[in-house]
Amino acid sequence: MQAETSLQVRVARKAVEAEDIVTLELVATDGRALPAFSAGSHIDLTLPGGITRQYSLCNDPQETQRYLIGVLREPASRGGSQAVHERVREGDVLSISAPKNHFPLAHEAKKSLLLAGGIGVTPILCMAERLAHGGADFEMHYASRSPARTAFRARIAAAGFADRVQFHFDDGAAAQKLDLPQLLAQPEAGTHLYVCGPRGFMDAVLATARAQGWPEDRLHYEFFGAELARSDADAGFEIKLASSGRIVRVPKDQTVTQALSAAGIEIMVSCEQGVCGTCLTRVLEGVPDHKDSYLTPEEQAANDQFTPCCSRAKTSQLLLDL
Ligand code: FES
Repeated sequence: MQAETSLQVRVARKAVEAEDIVTLELVATDGRALPAFSAGSHIDLTLPGGITRQYSLCNDPQETQRYLIGVLREPASRGGSQAVHERVREGDVLSISAPKNHFPLAHEAKKSLLLAGGIGVTPILCMAERLAHGGADFEMHYASRSPARTAFRARIAAAGFADRVQFHFDDGAAAQKLDLPQLLAQPEAGTHLYVCGPRGFMDAVLATARAQGWPEDRLHYEFFGAELARSDADAGFEIKLASSGRIVRVPKDQTVTQALSAAGIEIMVSCEQGVCGTCLTRVLEGVPDHKDSYLTPEEQAANDQFTPCCSRAKTSQLLLDL
């Protein structure tokens, strides 16, 4: 396992940003500048109770004295959003990773189309700030359930790029709703699409874009709070290690990383939800059952790598490059 540097930060401010959404402003405990980040970056935040979760940075990447994250209280939370809402207080010291970016802007883009669903606005807003500073051509669409549940409305309204943002509310008039087939009708050369939000929103945007002929290399996405697709059909299988020939059984109720760890073989993980790609491992033989949202459909179809934190096997054995 590679050691990751962790940073100690203090919660300088916790604020209610919208219904069920709070923001945390994090500053270095020693008062120094924080590591620089690019738009689309996230941090791993270790919460009271020891759970680690990923949160996108949603402040302007030019700021060096603070990181801002927005957190939605999710009823089906595995503990992360609940801990932020209920246990984290101003003044608390928390441990975070340095920013990592799995959702960067493509700097060759002639135009960027930014689509945010709900709390998925966090990295998208950071992108809008960055593009606006650079004088780039972009347009942002922000879909949410209602104005009361829309984070950063006041900040967007006051921003210099407010005229490039359109809000779409589920509870609003039909005319203002997000019309994906119309918005994505003609993929113009040089336009890149960025989308972040809950699973249903992402699936709808990406399916519409692909159906309208958007090339895969111009689609950029990050699943927010990915839910792992589990089914009763998930059966046990074997992992064979290429280096030693050793075989490790993965039972039905364990992930590959858990089974390997129990056998003394550690794979570095971060999100454990198939989102970040930290655990990506080469597959030399056998067919993985991909359950991640990190690899593109083409990468998944190649079946030569998988995310052992959540993906499984379609064959009785996988030979891994370990
Ligand atoms: S640990 Fe994040 S994808 Fe596996």
